[in-house]
Amino acid sequence: MPVATAIVNLDIEGPRISRHLYGHFAEHLGRCVYGGFWVGEDSPVPNEGGIRLDVVRALRALDIPNLRWPGGCFADEYHWRDGVGPREQRPRMVNTHWGNVEENNHFGTHEFMALCELLGAEPYISGNVGSGTVREMSEWVEYLTRDGDSPMVRLRRANGREEPWRVGFWGIGNETWGCGGNMRAEYFADLARQYGTYCRDHGDNKLYRIASGASDEDHQWTETLMRQLNCFGCEATPRTYYQGLSVHYYTLAGPWEAKGSATAFDTDDHYRTMLSARRVDRVLTGHSTVMDCYDPGRTVGLVLDEWGTWWDVEPGTNPGFLFQQNTLRDALVASVHFDVFHRHAARLVMANVAQTVNVLQAMVLTDGDALVLTPTYHVFEMNKGHQDATSLPVHLRAEHARRRVGDDELATLSVSASVKDGTLLVSLSNLDAEEPAEVSLDLRGGRIGEPRARVLTAGRLQEHNTPQSPDAVAPRPLDGVAVTGRGLALTLPPHSFVTVQAPMSLPD
Ligand code: AHR
Repeated sequence: MPVATAIVNLDIEGPRISRHLYGHFAEHLGRCVYGGFWVGEDSPVPNEGGIRLDVVRALRALDIPNLRWPGGCFADEYHWRDGVGPREQRPRMVNTHWGNVEENNHFGTHEFMALCELLGAEPYISGNVGSGTVREMSEWVEYLTRDGDSPMVRLRRANGREEPWRVGFWGIGNETWGCGGNMRAEYFADLARQYGTYCRDHGDNKLYRIASGASDEDHQWTETLMRQLNCFGCEATPRTYYQGLSVHYYTLAGPWEAKGSATAFDTDDHYRTMLSARRVDRVLTGHSTVMDCYDPGRTVGLVLDEWGTWWDVEPGTNPGFLFQQNTLRDALVASVHFDVFHRHAARLVMANVAQTVNVLQAMVLTDGDALVLTPTYHVFEMNKGHQDATSLPVHLRAEHARRRVGDDELATLSVSASVKDGTLLVSLSNLDAEEPAEVSLDLRGGRIGEPRARVLTAGRLQEHNTPQSPDAVAPRPLDGVAVTGRGLALTLPPHSFVTVQAPMSLPD
């Protein structure tokens, strides 16, 4: 059994972990919005103004900090004016990206803002650059956030909303190198400045504009956007036109053409998936390093606004709907990502899992009026204490916790730690499919009280939750955490995620 030591210096503060690293994403794609969040007011599924209450209840328990909408690729063919006013009069369109289905625009701006209010989440609106106009985007911001009297304010009031909403996060395009317009970085860099200019701060509403960024390790995209964001010799500072730059990274077990099944996979597929998940560290390091060259003061935030697993769709479902099951393997992908996010918290200001309901690596899956919490959901819940906490640097000594995967080597242990309101939270993942891991937590520089540990695991990595078996993968108390002279000692079962919480104090 691999023996590892994780040294945590309780009295050395790392950067603050923004709660927005636990952000979400809802696109007009498959059954994410329609059937997932939105059932309509006449549905037999319990709802408030058309929004599913079971989904809201489940997500509220995660303290979700923000929700990105309406896409994704869909954002760049979405025209917001089609989604306001009386629902039966809203124009229809074809959702060409996702299944070629007809979109009735019943879920629009007012419905999205009502959803955010029910969830207690901040809105992150992704504006249309690919097929929209500067005027269209500028007027959407005015419609949402302006007070007093103006053409868009009058339109909003006529549609039943008196007060402006508060909207902080604002996306300028999505994947503009691909589905969002197939642009060159040089061209988009100018558009981002132009759109950023006309997305105004109305009154005291301050936008945090996020320019559409790179995919994977396309550093050239980031380099171009950062270089052209700088304005040498004029008064603009790096963050004048936009304040954040995005990046997308998905976890796969193989190439895009052979992503494989969400549930029918073997141990080799699992290890390849974990390697791919761990690669997010390299992706973030690469983009952060490029950003450091142009913005050493870290005034521009890196925003990973799409991440998660991407498998073949479930057999018999619409290939354009991206509906996939979610197993313990997905949960470990999530837990590894969060450890990486915590380490990058100085530059990484937001991350959004793709996507919240019924699409890709979802938190909840719905089927008619049934709802199932996925293993990934439980990782978000077990980790929520890291939101807005102070990260604590972890040094891991785990030479033997390794697996050979082709030409690569996978480190099978992952750990991160933080402290908030006098409570220490340590997250530990054992990615090994077969071996437990004995871990000694060497807690230096402070004192801890009675620990409480929970574990998420199952007999098989392929295990997942269904309406018939909703708790096949659910957190349970972890016994056997020993208090030692140096801190704590515990054993992580094979393929498991563990959290340890304890009251913590520092010497006076
Ligand atoms: O999340 C699904 C799709 O993946 C998004 O619409 C797009 O931005 C990305 O390619």
